[in-house]
Amino acid sequence: MKNILACIVTIITLSNLITTSQGRRVLQSFETFEYTAITCRSHSASITEYGGVGDGKTLNTKAFQSAVDHLSQYSSDGGAQLFVPAGKWLTGSFNLTSHFTLFLHKDAILLAAQDLNEYPILKALPSYGRGRDAAGGRFASLIFGTNLSDVIITGNNGTIDGQGSFWWQKFHGGKLKYTRPYLIELMFSDTIQISNLTFLDSPSWNIHAC
Ligand SMILES: *[C@@H]1O[C@H](CO)[C@@H](O)[C@H](O)[C@H]1NC(C)=O
Ligand SMILES: *[C@@H]1O[C@H](CO)[C@@H](O)[C@H](O)[C@H]1NC(C)=O
Ligand SMILES: *[C@@H]1O[C@H](CO)[C@@H](O)[C@H](O)[C@H]1NC(C)=O
Ligand SMILES: *[C@@H]1O[C@H](CO)[C@@H](O)[C@H](O)[C@H]1NC(C)=O
Repeated sequence: MKNILACIVTIITLSNLITTSQGRRVLQSFETFEYTAITCRSHSASITEYGGVGDGKTLNTKAFQSAVDHLSQYSSDGGAQLFVPAGKWLTGSFNLTSHFTLFLHKDAILLAAQDLNEYPILKALPSYGRGRDAAGGRFASLIFGTNLSDVIITGNNGTIDGQGSFWWQKFHGGKLKYTRPYLIELMFSDTIQISNLTFLDSPSWNIHAC
């Protein structure tokens, strides 16, 4: 079952690929665009295998982080895909790894936890020198990664819901000491694809690539 999932994704995507005379695989419709990110991950797992519960109430931060940490062992061995089935998956911030795919089922909704403690404080971005909302650090984004390569965040129009009203109220009331999280932030990373998802009600920005 696990490997079938990984390979369904591959069959869809490989049909878009051609191999150039240099042996590079590129998207047929965008021939100058390197698209090597889409490959068959050799390992696939579901968040439920790491204790995830999609009931909209159970906090899944640890399940997501232990799934990614465990699957990161395959970064140098064909990469891995983490599948999120239909359901409402409440979670705080977690980090991604390289050679990794996060795939959301069409009826999967990631619900961002409305709890400041679920978002570690990171230093201000070096390029900004200070936080955007407040002078000091910032809350880690819901989905965060740094120094990564070959990451795909996708799904059949699954949803990432930031449940932002909690943050907007605090922000406008001057109650936040740190800059609000984004839904996805990837720093110092290359070969990234984010596609086929719906982003809802971010605490601040949806996607920040820096
Ligand atoms: C995620 O990455 C950030 C930055 O490297 C780090 O501060 C944080 O502790 C990491 N979180 C986990 C759960 O490893
Ligand atoms: C991540 O990349 C940045 C920019 O290239 C570099 O300054 C930093 O040392 C790297 N961090 C790690 C943990 O490799
Ligand atoms: C994706 O989901 C959103 C929200 O559920 C919906 O509004 C939109 O029509 C969907 N798009 C497609 C292409 O199915
Ligand atoms: C988006 O989803 C459609 C339908 O599921 C699929 O055919 C297409 O390849 C996907 N595109 C990307 C870039 O993932």
